[in-house]
Amino acid sequence: MPENILIAVAWPYANGPLHLGHIAGAYLPADIFARFHRMAGNNVLMVSGSDAHGTPITLRADREGVTPREIHDRFHQGFLESWQGLGISWDLFTTTETENHYRIAQDFFTRFHENGLLYETESSVPYSPSQNRYLPDRYIVGTCPHCDSDSARGDQCDSCGRTLDPRELVNPRSSIDGSAPEFRSRTHFMMRFSRFEDHLKEWLRDKTHWRPQVLNFTNGFLAQGLKDRAYTRDLEWGIPVPLDGWEDRRIYVWFEAVIGYLSASVQWAREVKGDPEAWRAWWGADARPYYFIGKDNITFHTIIWPAMLMAYGEGLALPEDVPANEFLNLEGYQLSTSRNWAVWAPEYLANYDADALRYVLSATMPETSDSEFTWPDYVRRVNTELVGTYGNLVHRTLTFLQRFFDGVVPDAEPDAAGARLTARVAEALEEAAAHIAACRFRAGLGVAMILAQDGNRYLDDRAPWRTIREDRDETARTLVTILGVIAGLKTLLAPYLPFSSQRLQTMLGLSGSAQDGGWTATTPAAGTRLPQPEALFAKLDEEQVLAREMANLGVGADNETRA
Ligand code: MF3
Ligand code: ZN
Repeated sequence: MPENILIAVAWPYANGPLHLGHIAGAYLPADIFARFHRMAGNNVLMVSGSDAHGTPITLRADREGVTPREIHDRFHQGFLESWQGLGISWDLFTTTETENHYRIAQDFFTRFHENGLLYETESSVPYSPSQNRYLPDRYIVGTCPHCDSDSARGDQCDSCGRTLDPRELVNPRSSIDGSAPEFRSRTHFMMRFSRFEDHLKEWLRDKTHWRPQVLNFTNGFLAQGLKDRAYTRDLEWGIPVPLDGWEDRRIYVWFEAVIGYLSASVQWAREVKGDPEAWRAWWGADARPYYFIGKDNITFHTIIWPAMLMAYGEGLALPEDVPANEFLNLEGYQLSTSRNWAVWAPEYLANYDADALRYVLSATMPETSDSEFTWPDYVRRVNTELVGTYGNLVHRTLTFLQRFFDGVVPDAEPDAAGARLTARVAEALEEAAAHIAACRFRAGLGVAMILAQDGNRYLDDRAPWRTIREDRDETARTLVTILGVIAGLKTLLAPYLPFSSQRLQTMLGLSGSAQDGGWTATTPAAGTRLPQPEALFAKLDEEQVLAREMANLGVGADNETRA
């Protein structure tokens, strides 16, 4: 029975282009998972969208003197181009700036309100008399009362890491114009998250398949007691509270963005599938929802969103797994949009191959601990692993076939040694499937690359370039065996390297898409004439890459200093 796999991926703030940290953290693992499940015959729905609201967007808009909508539109468009270039295979990538999303987010609010889950409180909100507006906590800067850092923000101090209230800051100022804020009393809604503590603990009991760091973090958070949280904010940008007299207050960005998983599914059903009810298969009792996120988003996906789903009360499926990744660092330092310390997707795609990046990020994916992207490592992996191991196996086999067999797949069966290798292909498909289904993407890729090494070793041992002189039949048996290995690699690598797998599909004389072939190794039939092969990957010039990229990052090629 095919399964209904919902692949829900963190909604990126539309306040800057994507960088490698986003890709390695959430989008690439989600895409590998989606492509694998489609090949395995399951029903996949993969959705996300731009996170349009919140201070990351308004801060940039204020800085540039443009509207938040302009910021949103610019980067949303950029995301769509990057997905295309990177091969991230969304069923729908939408935005929280749709009527559909507003309607569903407001429906959650109304339901919670009617069910007594929202209650009013008075809170003291920073207000800027000079600008005539309320300011988000994050907009207030001042001196940290704990560590004396003079660059603390009203929500937290980056120096000592403490969470702050803007009223605690010494000498608070607006980050927009430096003027001193007033604090005004305002009525806001609190959400009774505390009601769901026991239910969440109960629900988490059988989540032993989760990554230990995700489960431990979640349990640790709950052990401190689940507190009620403010559900509304004084903002002009965001989704209005759907109550008379509340039009000037908005739903807090996190408490509507997470609803995007559901609203995007509903939008997909209506607009893409043309069947308004089709989303239900991925949200019902036997659906399997997976949430791909970075580790800084864990609480919202393992506690807040599940609690909201429980509170909504339609029996909507709770997360089956939340395989949050750790962070990817760049040349030894944490990626940072504000410090411009990043490799940006659009720039990468303008200069290099998407599959090469997908390969390197899959091989170094921060699944169990933070990991590191460095350009020397990128070049080394592309040149020795992609070009040297996989690409080379394919290229020498297919060029040999052209040269001595006129490109025609010989009519032969593997001999005993070949049969052993053929059996390895089947095993590799099973092993990799188990790894990928359990969200162990590095291990799944490892299985493929070991098979590629085995294939190269087999080819070296069998030396068809020698046997061709005396024994054409034995050479044919070797080639047929190795074509089976290559067909297996094409399948094993299709979730990771979709572009080159598709080129290989064509080079193997197979019609259709690599994905539609399913999770099996289909070797071209005897007698098929294969087209002239082309190299799957290009070798990189290390010096040239390092010179360009170190200059881009503003560091010396010796990689010691950093601007
Ligand atoms: N925009 C948030 C971030 O980049 C992620 C939001 S995930 C969602 O950290 F589910 F809330 F949308
Ligand atoms: Zn501090």
